[in-house]
Amino acid sequence: MNSRLTIAMPKGRIFSEAVDLLRKSGLSIPEDFHEDTRKLIISFDELDIDFFLAKPADVPTYVEYGVADVGVVGKDVLLEEDRDVYELLDLGISRCRMSVAGLADWTPTFSPRVATKYPRIASRYFREQGQQVEVIKLNGSVELAPLIGLADRIVDIVSTGRTLQENGLIELEHITDITTRLIANRVSYRMKNKEIEEIYQRFSKVIGVNQECQ
Ligand code: PRP
Repeated sequence: MNSRLTIAMPKGRIFSEAVDLLRKSGLSIPEDFHEDTRKLIISFDELDIDFFLAKPADVPTYVEYGVADVGVVGKDVLLEEDRDVYELLDLGISRCRMSVAGLADWTPTFSPRVATKYPRIASRYFREQGQQVEVIKLNGSVELAPLIGLADRIVDIVSTGRTLQENGLIELEHITDITTRLIANRVSYRMKNKEIEEIYQRFSKVIGVNQECQ
């Protein structure tokens, strides 16, 4: 099997922190490797690595199908996409939380509407709470939904809390903490174990030990 490694990288929130981590781990990633490029495959022959720049939600799909051997992805996406991938390491970056938020003065109704980019996570959470809700899938700017009467609550990630604050919303319930994970395709993990182990060790050294995923 070809020993060249393919790594799916998520554009957006995580990208620059993940590239910083790769640099700190000793990989000489050129300065012009940034997410604003329109190129979707960036090859570094000297490292024997191809990077795919993907939408975050698609990273586990590329890894499950084995077109990317490994991927860097938020736990939020992993929980939502529920793909069959091997979760190797908690990279500890892009730390945030998944929360329920809404307007403070909302009057509870029998089956409140919940807007979210994460319908699986939201449905699972409210089911576990024994609460009946109607989940409405949105693709972004979820905070808008309670302001304009589309939904009573939202389920979304909260990082600095600025988006909630600037829109007069409050965080009501904490669902789970979120960090970025290193994932691998199950077959690649066996067939390219040496190469994947090297990436794993590089990351482990930078982030410290005891970060293995549960
Ligand atoms: C995420 C999330 C919140 C915001 C939280 O959105 O969906 O809207 O960041 O960050 P904060 O607590 O630091 O304000 P993102 O920037 O990914 O854009 P989107 O809403 O279009 O998905």
